[in-house]
Amino acid sequence: MSKIILSDAVINWYEKNHRKLPWRSATAEHYNPYYVLVSEFMLQQTVVKTVIPYFNKFVSKFYNIFILADADLDEVLSVWSGLGYYRRAKNLHETSKIICKKYNGIIPKGYDDLTSLPGIGDYTASAIMSIAFNYPSNVVDGNIERIFSRINKIDIPINKAKKKIRLIAKKHVPKSKVSFYVQGLMDIGATICKPKISKCFECPLENFCRVSNRDESINYPIKEKKIIKIRKGIFYCLIKNNNSIMLIKNRNKGLFANMDVLPSFGWEKEKYFEDEKLKNLEGYNLPNKFYYAFTHFKLEVSIVICKNFSKNELTGINKIEFVKFVDLEKKAIPSLIKKILDEVKKCILI
Ligand code: ADE
Repeated sequence: MSKIILSDAVINWYEKNHRKLPWRSATAEHYNPYYVLVSEFMLQQTVVKTVIPYFNKFVSKFYNIFILADADLDEVLSVWSGLGYYRRAKNLHETSKIICKKYNGIIPKGYDDLTSLPGIGDYTASAIMSIAFNYPSNVVDGNIERIFSRINKIDIPINKAKKKIRLIAKKHVPKSKVSFYVQGLMDIGATICKPKISKCFECPLENFCRVSNRDESINYPIKEKKIIKIRKGIFYCLIKNNNSIMLIKNRNKGLFANMDVLPSFGWEKEKYFEDEKLKNLEGYNLPNKFYYAFTHFKLEVSIVICKNFSKNELTGINKIEFVKFVDLEKKAIPSLIKKILDEVKKCILI
C-alpha cells in the first residue's frame, strides 16, 4: 500500500471539514477572485472571526470590483471603519481602480502583476494565486509556520527559523488542489493545531508530526520573550454647544491614513495628528486613562476636554470639522478614536 503524502492528508481533511467562510464558495474548487482579494486584504492583520462581519458588509455594499473602484474613498473607509489598519482600505481601493483600468476588471493571475498593485506583497500575491487560481505557490502564514515548526520540531526561535520553515513548506506544496491544500493548512492551524492547545487526536497530520500528542507540542514554535513598549498619547476633544466635537481629517499616510481622528500629542517618535496651537487651549483632563493595544506597542490614552475656545484660536489648523455626536457614525473613525468618543460622551452627559 502506498504511503499517503502530507498534502493529500490536508486536502482530504479540507474536503470534509473546512470552515464555512463567506469568501469561500460552497462547492466550487475555485473561488470568486474578487472575494479572495477583499478577504486577503482584510486578513492581512486581522483574525478570521473579526473579519467575517466586515467582509459581509463590504461585499454587500461593493459587490463587485467595478462598484468598489467607482466608490469614494470616504465611503470605503467608513465601511472599513472599526477593522483598523486603514492603509489596507486605501490600497484595496487603489488596487481595484488599477484592475478595472488596466485589466478590464479581471484580477490578474501572475505574481509580478499582483505584486505591482498597492498593498499586495509576496504573501498576499501567493495567497490569491493559490486560493483563487489553484497556482502552486508557497503560502506561509502564522498558522502554517506553527504547523511546520511542530511537525519538524524546530528547536530554534521562530524569528530565526522563518527561512527554514519556508523551505520545508515549499517541498510539500502539491501540483493540484492547491487552493484546498493552503486553506486546509490554515484551517488546521486555526482549529486543531492552535497556539495554546493542540488537538492532536483530531489532526490529519498526527502521523507526520514529531511532537504530536506530547505536552511539549504547544511550546512550538519557540518564541523569544518580547518586551511590550508603552507610549503615551493625549487626545484633545474640542466640544461646541455640547453637541458637536472637532475631528481632523488625517494625512494620507501612516497610521489612520485619511481617517477622521481627534488631534493628539505625545505618542513619542512619530507625530500623530499634532497641532502645537491646540496645546494652549484651556481644558480639563478626564480622570480615567485607558490602554489600547497596537501590534508593536501599548498606548496609554489620556483625554482632555476643551469647551472654552474661540474661532480665532483654531485659525490655521487644517482640515478640521465639527461633527454632531449623532452624526459620528457616518464618519470614517478608527476604533481607538471611537473608544475615546464613548468615554467623552459618558462624561459630558449629552
Ligand atoms: N488568513 C489569511 N488568509 C486566510 C484565508 N483565506 N482563510 C483563512 N485564514 C486566512
